[in-house]
Amino acid sequence: MTFEQEIERRRTFGIISHPDAGKTTLTEKLLLFGGAIQEAGAVKSNKIKKSATSDFMEIERQRGISVATSVLAFIYKDKKINILDTPGHKDFAEDTFRTLTAVDSVIVVIDVAKGVEEQTEKLVEVCRMRNIPMIVFINKLDREGKDAFDLLDEVEQKLGLSVTPLSFPIGMGFDFKGIYNIFEKNINLFSGNSKQNIEETIAFDDLSNPELENIIGEKAANELRDNLELVEGVYPPFNKESYLEGSQQPVFFGSALNNFGVRELLDCFIQIAPAPRPKKAEERLVQPNEKDFSGFVFKIHANMDPKHRDRLAFVKIVSGKFERNKPYLHVRNNKNLKFSSPNAFFAEKKEIVDESFPGDIVGLHDTGNFKIGDTLTNGEILNYKGIPSFSPEHFRYINNADPMKAKQLYKGIDQLMDEGVAQLFTLELNGRKVIGTVGALQYEVIQYRLEHEYGAKCTYENLPVHKACWVEAENNEEFNEFKRVKQKFLAKDKAGQLVFLADSAFSLQMTQQKYPSVRLRFTSEKDV
Ligand code: G4P
Repeated sequence: MTFEQEIERRRTFGIISHPDAGKTTLTEKLLLFGGAIQEAGAVKSNKIKKSATSDFMEIERQRGISVATSVLAFIYKDKKINILDTPGHKDFAEDTFRTLTAVDSVIVVIDVAKGVEEQTEKLVEVCRMRNIPMIVFINKLDREGKDAFDLLDEVEQKLGLSVTPLSFPIGMGFDFKGIYNIFEKNINLFSGNSKQNIEETIAFDDLSNPELENIIGEKAANELRDNLELVEGVYPPFNKESYLEGSQQPVFFGSALNNFGVRELLDCFIQIAPAPRPKKAEERLVQPNEKDFSGFVFKIHANMDPKHRDRLAFVKIVSGKFERNKPYLHVRNNKNLKFSSPNAFFAEKKEIVDESFPGDIVGLHDTGNFKIGDTLTNGEILNYKGIPSFSPEHFRYINNADPMKAKQLYKGIDQLMDEGVAQLFTLELNGRKVIGTVGALQYEVIQYRLEHEYGAKCTYENLPVHKACWVEAENNEEFNEFKRVKQKFLAKDKAGQLVFLADSAFSLQMTQQKYPSVRLRFTSEKDV
């Protein structure tokens, strides 16, 4: 296979949803289609269950398992499919945001009864801002849920999308008879038997054919005809270009648990979803088919073995071929590094590979060289954009609880921050260190890992901060005045950028009004 063909056959994507909408179940069914796993239940362990929030050891155990399930790859109809796992737990939302910088498209799963939920809104917003192509899968059609048209409206309004259904349900819940596949022009009948993997598919391109009555009954046939007429009248026809540029989102209906509507989704996905796309570096736009290798680190996972501090850095290959044992430039450190055992991921296994192609993810063993966002190249100076930090939701001072272990503590904090577990801010006034996180759970994770991996102990102290804002300003009088008056609330992030720690929404608003030329941003980067 040529280099170009290798790129063309790759589909790297993420599945996003609010917890419990069915992301894990759908992932598992997709893997079944690829023949990558033999039985249902194999992927279940990759999610952090809600019940586990209080059980810290359980979370650590599952984090370990999730190394293997961070990337699930399989071959389907000759396409190499890479699913990047995005943690559903909201305390790990930042992990998910970062993973979204490494996908070429996404599938959004929505529960038919619950409709659009909070976590989905946040994640879709990030995808929308980046024009990532999205396919929507409305799940759990075997249950009573919202009316299909109402749901499509909700998706458009709450998520700001422009949808067009590519399948449409025939009945719902108790009366669910199947779906009409608009994309392939056939009917899939629902047997309601979850043990049966493949449903019955009947080709049907002329809905006025009276045979429809015989297949689904008179009432359902009339309803389907009316509904499809409405679909045609209200929604624009599917346009692949619009989907690829992020301005139209096709919608599928189905039931992941019953493996219903999943094959249709997958078949359409491999046809329309993009192969690896060009990526912007600060210096220039990089095309996947360029000869020279380049890639960036979007995730770092600590090893579960506390005896050695080995970590796995996940690199998305943007261009060229990655080869084992070849020296590559670590751009930030200006250092050449060689990797003797790069891991590739296959279903739930990882194995050492000799070469990987654009769209693929390689896992590189790291002893502390990498931090999230780092770029590796064949020698060219490139810095990939787009791994921003978001304002944390929680803030606490971190104190050293064992004066003999100060060095270990700072090293530990430093490395955990590089992994993206949380963010560190150093107050301008007194140099005290503040840890900012998305969820309260991370404080437990940090404390535990500092103790077990670095032999250091810490305590926390609450700090009433509402939001961290990155400051951008001209060096003028107003900025100097802002710095003088707000000194108590100013800090530097780990990259040395100035951050304003607003103690309330009100003070944030007042500050903005008082110093209009000082720009306060909720992310560390201008274009998210
Ligand atoms: P998540 O990864 O998005 O958090 O969701 P997950 O797949 O774990 O699904 C959440 C729950 O919804 C699971 O039930 C799962 O079996 C169920 N589910 C997924 N797809 C469908 C569907 O098409 N129809 C119906 N009726 N249910 C579906 P659970 O009871 O929480 O977990 P489990 O005991 O089945 O593992």
